[in-house]
Amino acid sequence: MAIEAVSVPLGARSYRVKVGPGLIDALGAEAKELGLGRRCVLISDSNVAPLYASRAVAALRAAGFEPVEVTAPAGEKSKSLDQAGAICERMIEAGLDRKAWVLALGGGVVGDLAGFVAAIYYRGVACVQAPTTIVAQVDSAVGGKTGVNARNGKNLIGAFHQPRLVLADVDTLGSLPAREFNEGFAEVIKHGAIRDRALLDAVANLDRANLAPIIRRNVEIKAAIVSADEEERTGERALLNFGHTIGHAIEAAAGYGRLLHGEAVSLGLVAACRISVKRAGLDPAEAARITALLDQYHLPVRLPEGVAADAILSALKADKKFEEGAIRFVLCPRLGEAFVSKEVTPADIAEAVAALR
Ligand code: NAD
Ligand code: GLY
Repeated sequence: MAIEAVSVPLGARSYRVKVGPGLIDALGAEAKELGLGRRCVLISDSNVAPLYASRAVAALRAAGFEPVEVTAPAGEKSKSLDQAGAICERMIEAGLDRKAWVLALGGGVVGDLAGFVAAIYYRGVACVQAPTTIVAQVDSAVGGKTGVNARNGKNLIGAFHQPRLVLADVDTLGSLPAREFNEGFAEVIKHGAIRDRALLDAVANLDRANLAPIIRRNVEIKAAIVSADEEERTGERALLNFGHTIGHAIEAAAGYGRLLHGEAVSLGLVAACRISVKRAGLDPAEAARITALLDQYHLPVRLPEGVAADAILSALKADKKFEEGAIRFVLCPRLGEAFVSKEVTPADIAEAVAALR
């Protein structure tokens, strides 16, 4: 059965997102339809490449493409300028020019890194995203935010660079370890909290054998927000940062690699809900519902030992969401709605972080 794509309408940069089974084997045919150049680089990581790269390469070759394979070490530490530079050097050595394109095969780390390489290589080449985690399928592969981490902050070095196509093969989610599977639900719960309370019911009663509809719904939510505010200028796209201001700071304070991104976001969501109760009138029972859902997916709702509140608060100051000293903080007044506030104070944040103990 043909898979109906979700479209991301962005004028000349519009693209389609397909969600369904078996899409890795369709990579070559789909890329051919876009009229992409013959040569490409397939960027993956050391966990994903052994599982799926040979199928992706076979699909590309069958459609006449000549892929060069590059495999980064798995994990957040690969989201670095050094790694991006090394991949670009490898592409230069392989003789790839500006007609070449990038295929990102992996989770959010590979997608952000490979997307960034595509944004800077020869000042920008085409990119196709083939996300293989829930985080990447529901969030990071869609929307064109690419980048790497700085020593003192997540995603501080990057570029907007929309993919030409996203193919989310839901079969790949079957090989995700339990921790990485659960991690993805922090972003799903975030989407429900800011846009669609019915999604929260679906998350509470998940049918793991039928993930495509839930992933597709998340892509629709993200596509609508991105097409309304591609470069996060009007405040609409900033809503996607719900739970991320404190979440990113916790991720950095814990040391990249200790908490998975979604685990840090889970803690950030609990804190953001607490602040929403105080500053936006969120019903405490609705805040408790979010905490219970995160807990249902075994996501942390209490800070792990050894992550100091001071370190979290100093990491916050390096965040992009601090605008000339003021905090742009996303609040949720009722489940399914959100807005950006400048009323949240450092004391509110310190109190919410302390309450995570
Ligand atoms: P990840 O890419 O590190 O993947 C998690 C782990 O699962 C890794 O060890 C990976 O090798 C492994 N893996 C991936 N797919 C697999 C599969 N199908 N089977 C078995 N193992 C597999 O992490 P992630 O959670 O996917 O993404 C987190 C990253 O995404 C963070 O860096 C975060 O900042 C970024 N992100 C970006 C955006 C954006 O808009 N650009 C949005 C959300 C998150
Ligand atoms: N993940 C947040 C965004 O894409 O804007």
